[in-house]
Amino acid sequence: MKNITVLISGNGTNLQAIIDNVKAGKINGKIVAVISNKADAFGLERAKKADIPTYFIGHKGITREEHEQKIIDILEKEKVDLVVLAGYMRVLTSLFVGKYKNRLINIHPALLPAFPGTDGYGDTWNYGCKVGGCTVHFVDEGVDTGPIIIQRANEIREDDTLETFKQRGLDIEHQALPEAVKLFCDDKLKIEGRKVKIEK
Ligand code: GRF
Repeated sequence: MKNITVLISGNGTNLQAIIDNVKAGKINGKIVAVISNKADAFGLERAKKADIPTYFIGHKGITREEHEQKIIDILEKEKVDLVVLAGYMRVLTSLFVGKYKNRLINIHPALLPAFPGTDGYGDTWNYGCKVGGCTVHFVDEGVDTGPIIIQRANEIREDDTLETFKQRGLDIEHQALPEAVKLFCDDKLKIEGRKVKIEK
């Protein structure tokens, strides 16, 4: 069984989806810690409700590396196998990314490589795309550039608003992210250069 840590900054609906899938026995892993860089992230409440240890690690007044080292200290103590970024709104330096290479994944709200950055849904919508979606990927040193594990499309309908498009997108994320976590925990993901092979 793999030890999973989830890093969040906000509402934590993706965290909730992982919690629910673990609880339902669909993921061969245990969430050993939920870490937030925001004290008031609602995801911390979700974790507490599920009896998962929570940590608030603020980033004000310290360097990025000092902040990351505090997180690494927790991850090492908990012997973490997989780190999931689920709405974690800080770019990680090579200190963190190097240490967790190939065991660090992120959910991004657009079909990469289109629309990297912080507002994938807004950017997809404002561009006038007919299809958006989400991407679960391994994290490398770039911003939203790592090898892709899963992508799911979300067709934009004539009667959509940004809000309805986003809500449907989140529902899709809540399927895709737990699926990627499950595949990782089952040792089914093999990284070959830019490609991630999913073993049967
Ligand atoms: C999601 O749209 C995710 O793709 C993006 O941030 C949002 C987090 O939502 N990285 P939540 O905190 O999981 O509800």
